[in-house]
Amino acid sequence: MSRKLKVAERAKVPAFEVMSILDRVAALRASGRDVISLCAGEPSDGAPTAVSKRAAEIHTAGTPMTYTPPLGILELREAIAGHYKRWYNIDVPSANIAVTTGSSGAFMLLFLASFNAGDKVALARPGYPAYANILRTLGVEVIELAAGPEIRYQPSVELLEAAWEEHGELDGLMLASPANPTGTMVSGAELGDLGAWCKDHGVRLISDEIYHGIDYPEAGAEARRSVSAWELDKDSVVISSFSKYWGMTGWRLGWALVPDDLIGTVDALAGNLALCPPAPAQYAALAAFTDESYAEAESRVDEFAKARAALLEAMPRLGWGECAPADGAFYLYAELGQMLGSFPDSSAYCAALLEAEGVAIVPGVDFDKVDGGQRVRLSFAAGLAQVQEAIERIVRFQQAR
Ligand SMILES: Cc1ncc(COP(=O)(O)O)c(C=O)c1O
Repeated sequence: MSRKLKVAERAKVPAFEVMSILDRVAALRASGRDVISLCAGEPSDGAPTAVSKRAAEIHTAGTPMTYTPPLGILELREAIAGHYKRWYNIDVPSANIAVTTGSSGAFMLLFLASFNAGDKVALARPGYPAYANILRTLGVEVIELAAGPEIRYQPSVELLEAAWEEHGELDGLMLASPANPTGTMVSGAELGDLGAWCKDHGVRLISDEIYHGIDYPEAGAEARRSVSAWELDKDSVVISSFSKYWGMTGWRLGWALVPDDLIGTVDALAGNLALCPPAPAQYAALAAFTDESYAEAESRVDEFAKARAALLEAMPRLGWGECAPADGAFYLYAELGQMLGSFPDSSAYCAALLEAEGVAIVPGVDFDKVDGGQRVRLSFAAGLAQVQEAIERIVRFQQAR
């Protein structure tokens, strides 16, 4: 009997369009072209010096890197608790902290622990694509909230009410502030309203706080300080990471603040899915919570701020349409407006810009399948010099058309 081998339907998540751009960047560079890439959502400087030094010391000492507990070493969980005291002045029991393989590992664990197949989770469109992709592989129904510029591309109670009306009971809300791709933030009051609505309706709030610490308080009249969902409600889930503020993307280390009713499940799942988060990264990451490392991370945020200012100042010259206020993170998400010209969509615009001027930016479709075809995302994590040069090249590209 010959029976066809199975390939799971549920795992077929869409590939990112940006991958074809990144492939082309690599090919152009290999052929000797000078390419500026404003694609990557990562700081180029890497880990703070103290973290790299600690990693080298561990290596030299030959510390045996055996498995750690599934939720991470106690010293690191306690250091993360100290971080919440330092930044938010809240007491987080280390028993509620799960160290994970990046925030990405935390999404999988916390989505599994929080939702059954068939449950409904709302999230803003545009948004970070992995949320919806992971949820869908788990059989969770994703309810996209069409969040426009008038509400800073963030979920609102009105959108949640409308979704509840249209789709029935919701089980979760995925929130990111600052967000990717828009960089926009919700204020403390807005977070409070969303949290209260979730609590009233039995909806689990999952707050992705990976970009906390990277914000630009002069951005609005009201200082939009990053408020943690755990300042307001310890039944919510907070997810964060060493990847962005500390620039440790490849170390694969993040964490979650896990409510009491989920922590046992997360502990058991973590042991089964990955045994433990990476041990060398955990020991080295202890040095992220030193005064020296915080100071180094802050000085990088100052550099992002300079690149951001240059980009915002250049907006009139670029002649694009509406652009998100970039309250935090290191992204600018903008509508191309009349500069889309005769290109059918922003993917075509980005491909042509890369060929003509060697500037790589990300088309919006990866973040928004409905309206992203008009928009682009620029990462200014590359720094001021790269951003300034990219602006000149983009202006030249648009003038030449
Ligand atoms: C909003 C957001 N959350 C999570 C991640 C994943 O980060 P990591 O798994 O490195 O912690 C990213 C990466 O770009 C992101 O932009």
